[in-house]
Amino acid sequence: MTVALDRRGRVAVLTLDRPDALNAISPEMLDAIEGHLDTIEREPELRAVILTGAGEKAFTAGADINHMRQATPHEARAWAKQGHAVANRIEAFPRPVIAAVNGYALGGGCELALACDIRLASEKARFGLPEVTLGILPGWGGTQRMARLTSPGFAKELIFTGRYVDAQEALATGLANHVYPPGELMDRAMELAEKIATMPPGQIASAKEIVNLALEGDLRGHLARELDAFALAFQTEDQREGMAAFVEKRPPEFTGR
Ligand code: CAA
Repeated sequence: MTVALDRRGRVAVLTLDRPDALNAISPEMLDAIEGHLDTIEREPELRAVILTGAGEKAFTAGADINHMRQATPHEARAWAKQGHAVANRIEAFPRPVIAAVNGYALGGGCELALACDIRLASEKARFGLPEVTLGILPGWGGTQRMARLTSPGFAKELIFTGRYVDAQEALATGLANHVYPPGELMDRAMELAEKIATMPPGQIASAKEIVNLALEGDLRGHLARELDAFALAFQTEDQREGMAAFVEKRPPEFTGR
């Protein structure tokens, strides 16, 4: 279970590499992403970053459900804070970060993709915030960034139903910038990253920071509300039921308790 860092000329490629669990993200993987971003930041010749997933099926199917299944609200809050820290770091990272979404980008995986600057999708990509089906709600920034990137109505539909969005719908709603055949995705991501890497890095960093301000509002305050709601969900029977149902591969029975 790992996150690989490959240097390809001026482009750093980060690959979430846990294909047997659809690249579900463990605390160690969040630490690894942060560690790699520290490394990249110290290497000015790396001018753009691509985040992708190993294997054929997934970018990442989200936060590791087994890790949080028995979490107390306090532990859930700490876990969501760690996810927020990584998403915020990607968003504020002084180099462009491109998500090459090669398959499922669900829950926390979708939320990391949302924190990237640009999303390129393979025709096999599926985006979604299915947390309600587990008895919780998005906890790594999805309540804010999905609404800001697409629209509040679309974000609410996805968050309330947990339904998945295919690549064409992602393109139509602004979730994805472009859609490519699976075999082309990484080449196209590299082309885009290399093109940006030829631009003046200081101006790219400033432009990123300033475009982010256009969407800022009280992002940090609203993310704090999301943390609280995520933690509180772990005080409910519905969270235990939702995650038990996932592990037991059966539909959940939610009662509102
Ligand atoms: N956490 C832990 N394990 C996961 C996982 C996750 N998020 N997603 C998939 N896996 C594991 C499965 O348990 C399975 O493991 P086993 O082979 O040991 O049984 C393996 O990956 C392959 O998955 P499936 O057999 O389920 O594959 P599938 O093709 O039948 O279904 C899927 C694919 C629809 C994506 C399904 O795996 C799925 O629904 N995954 C969960 C998606 C999800 O709910 N993500 C949100 C997580 S919560 C979150 O991220 C909270 C947050 O906001 C921070």
